[in-house]
Parts: sequence; C-alpha cells; structure tokens
Amino acid sequence: MPPVHGRFPNLTVLEHPLIQHKLSILRDKATSVKNFKQLVSEIAMLMTYEATRHLQTEPVEIETPLERTTARRVAGKKLTLVPILRAGLGMVEGISQLIPSARVGHVGLFRDHETLQPVSYYYKVPAAETDRDFFVLDPMLATGGSAAAAVSQLRASGATRIRFLCLVAAPEGVQAMLDAHPLVPVYAAALDRELNAHGYILPGLGDAGDRIFGTR
Ligand code: PRP
Ligand code: URA
Repeated sequence: MPPVHGRFPNLTVLEHPLIQHKLSILRDKATSVKNFKQLVSEIAMLMTYEATRHLQTEPVEIETPLERTTARRVAGKKLTLVPILRAGLGMVEGISQLIPSARVGHVGLFRDHETLQPVSYYYKVPAAETDRDFFVLDPMLATGGSAAAAVSQLRASGATRIRFLCLVAAPEGVQAMLDAHPLVPVYAAALDRELNAHGYILPGLGDAGDRIFGTR
C-alpha cells in the first residue's frame, strides 16, 4: 500500500512504475492528442487499483462449475464517478473499464483566467446516499479552487464518502484541499514543484482540457 505523503497527510502519490512511465509521455509536448487522451485514461485506470483499496466487501454465495462456495463482492451502493468538466471526462473511460457499474455525475466548472477562481456552470450528480462512494476526477490540481468547489457542491448535496483523483498536483492545490476538506483523500500520479504566475503547474503538462480535446 503506498504511503501517505510526508508533507501532506491528505495526499497519496502513486509511484507505480507503469504510472510514472505513462506520465512522462503525457508530459511531453510532442505527444499527440490521440495518445494524450489514451494515456490519461490508462493512468486513471491504474490509479483506480489503489484508490479503491478501502472499499468494503461482503460475502456472496455462488456455484462454481464444481461446488457451492462463498466468495466476496464489493458491498454497498454503486460507486459514483464525478468528473469536473471538461478535463475530468478524460479519466472516466479508464476507470469505468475496471468498474463498469459505476454511476457518472458531472460538475461543470471553469477557471476564470484573470482571477483563477472557479466558475460553476453545471451540476448533475446521482443522489448522495451515505453508503455511496464518490470519486471526483480532474487531471490537474493547481490552485485547488476547482477541486475544492466541486467537493463543496457534493458535500452540500449530502455526500460524505468522497475521494479526489488527479494526475498532477501542485503543492498549493493539495494544501487548499487540506484546508477546505481535510478528510477528503487526494490521490495523484505526481506532486509537482509549484504554480507559475498564471496558475499553471510546473513542470506540469500544460492545459489538460486543451490537450485531451485538441482545442489548441
Ligand atoms: C483546469 C483543470 C481543472 C482546473 C485546475 O480546467 O482541468 O479543472 O483547471 O485549476 P485549479 O486547481 O486552479 O482550479 P479549466 O478551468 O481550464 O477548464 P477546462 O477543463 O474546461 O479546460
Ligand atoms: N489547468 C491545467 O489544465 N493545467 C495546469 O497546469 C493548471 C490548471
């Protein structure tokens, strides 16, 4: 089990070699839109293995071709994925391959280029029941404004079991999440150095939404 980060008690950095290998290709500015989209999906899928480690299981009686036995299955309501539009959409496909029954909600937020504050424009998420797990998804945790706002919206609708999955985190964003939502675990493929003056993560990978959807 990967250790919680020494500097941030809310952060787990997933340093699996396959994740790190794929992330290095993702960061490369020469990577095509097609490959970028595929890599975001694959890394999200690999991260899911650790991010679901806490899920409770329960016994289930089944018949194998040879005999009756007791096996285990994931207990509770279907897990809900909540991508932050747009870039979080890129993580849904990979995670859904491992958890095909997952529900998907959508939170629409964009970051104002001047103020760097999140602006909300859409919210549609399956009902928050206390035994339902929510995974909020966004490849980038920069200032943390978007992630914190999405989690606030979810919590206001009654969700309690919330985790945040991103590919690249800035220390500023992890701290913002720790301040706003100290009990929400953050999983990242990398903790980068810092933000630049425009709120972009360094070294980062650029604008995740533009690179996934080919809009620049
Ligand atoms: C990006 C990214 C996050 C946000 C991170 O989205 O996908 O949602 O910025 O920044 P923050 O931590 O400082 O809030 P953007 O606002 O560019 O919207 P888009 O995905 O629609 O391009
Ligand atoms: N959003 C992005 O897509 N990239 C960054 O580096 C910061 C915010």
